[in-house]
Amino acid sequence: MNPPLVVPSPGIQPEIAVAAIPDDERVWVPQAKDVWFRPLLLNTVTGGWCNLLRVRKSGVLHRHRHPMIVVGYVVRGQWRYLEHDWVATEGSFVYEPPGETHTLVVPDDCPEMITFFSIAGAMIYLDAEGRQIGYEDVFSKIDMCRKHYVEVGLGTTYVDQFVR
Ligand SMILES: [Fe+2]
Repeated sequence: MNPPLVVPSPGIQPEIAVAAIPDDERVWVPQAKDVWFRPLLLNTVTGGWCNLLRVRKSGVLHRHRHPMIVVGYVVRGQWRYLEHDWVATEGSFVYEPPGETHTLVVPDDCPEMITFFSIAGAMIYLDAEGRQIGYEDVFSKIDMCRKHYVEVGLGTTYVDQFVR
């Protein structure tokens, strides 16, 4: 008996293969003061995204909660969470469990950190008392990218290459 054939499927989504750190500075989307993200995959099917997060000059990524899994890999520099006592250094892998709330800070002596994050679901931004003050999901990330890329002259469809 012959083994079953595994045949190519019509209509699958195209792959993505890009230089993660872009040559064009405009590809970085401003997120907060001294914080940017570079979209790599904006996944509207499973609801999540992959990006590089870049922080310069001891920037802070505001306190937030993850309802779903996040994994990360530190490409450059280092950072820590105010809520934990470990430091993520260059080459570190990080797992953030669903339900985790934290505030990412980069130390004063680190001029730049870049970390790859794969984020499922959403990010829910909280104030000091735990009240929700912001929300991000793949659709709001796409909106942020589209607005920024129009502003910097890359055009309204530039972000589409990262959307699946
Ligand atoms: Fe986080």
